Amino acid sequence: MTLVAPLVRCATARFALRVAARVIPPRSPPALPVSVMGLHFVNPLGLAAGFDRDGSLLTPLALSGFGFIEIGTIRTIARLHRALANVRRHRRHALIGINLASAADGVEPDSVDGSRALMRAAWFAADYLVANLSGPRGAPGSAVPLTSRVALLCARHAALASEVGSRTPLVVKLALNLVPARDLPCLRASGVDAVIGVSADTDLIARVARALAPLPLISVGGIRGSDDVVARIAAGAALVQVHTAFCRGGPFFPRRVLTELAKNETARPGVGAAQAPRLRPMRMPSAGG
Ligand SMILES: Cc1cc2nc3c(=O)[nH]c(=O)nc-3n(C[C@H](O)[C@H](O)[C@H](O)COP(=O)(O)O)c2cc1C
Repeated sequence: MTLVAPLVRCATARFALRVAARVIPPRSPPALPVSVMGLHFVNPLGLAAGFDRDGSLLTPLALSGFGFIEIGTIRTIARLHRALANVRRHRRHALIGINLASAADGVEPDSVDGSRALMRAAWFAADYLVANLSGPRGAPGSAVPLTSRVALLCARHAALASEVGSRTPLVVKLALNLVPARDLPCLRASGVDAVIGVSADTDLIARVARALAPLPLISVGGIRGSDDVVARIAAGAALVQVHTAFCRGGPFFPRRVLTELAKNETARPGVGAAQAPRLRPMRMPSAGG
């Protein structure tokens, strides 16, 4: 029953987003460009996975101001092909992450081929790929150690990169409170390009960001507004993502947050941990043009 309220909130937010995109002329939010994983984000505020699983809302989401949008989690090739068609049709200014299921990612022999096929199919469409190890099946603490799962993922990712001759950044999504501190150095050296850390505990986020540096940490969980974004960046997050706050705040939430961030000196370069992003307001072409 506890799942019903978020699902209803999401459905309402999707409806509001579609309506807003039709009736309100798009205005670009302030741009706060930041480079992470070798990618150029127009701003550090992203939409977390689970809101737009199949990419059908990419256009209104990009117009609402997000700097990056994560679609998924996608579990089957059929769903991935539908999502890829949407990505091709609706790609806008925002970067696109594709979050792929990784049922203990590929360590079970019968899931290896399936998850490799997902990664290969998403390779050229995604700006970055996410292996979701934050859910119950991928939770650290299951039979296979987290570091082994990540090592296997990285080996598969590296093999694909050399096979196709290009590299799409690989990100792992983890519940930070379930990651043992002793695993952080292994994660840092594993070959992943970033970690999405689910946690609302700023002290924990700061500790993990320090331990992972220079590997970027993308913070998600409990962000309600610009103050939280500033706090996460100050704690060392390179980027942030929201889900619930967007469902609650509606289509103009990203624009409000970015407008506040653009005014906030503490969200500027040199503040926070080593890999805090460099945020620099700049003018953007209008979203319509
Ligand atoms: C209704 C709902 C569906 C979600 N679905 C996914 C999902 O498919 N994959 C995923 O990695 N995270 C999923 N999440 C988790 C969010 O991406 C995010 O990590 C989490 O909600 C914490 O962020 P928040 O506090 O801003 O909501 C979902 C969350 C909600 C509320």
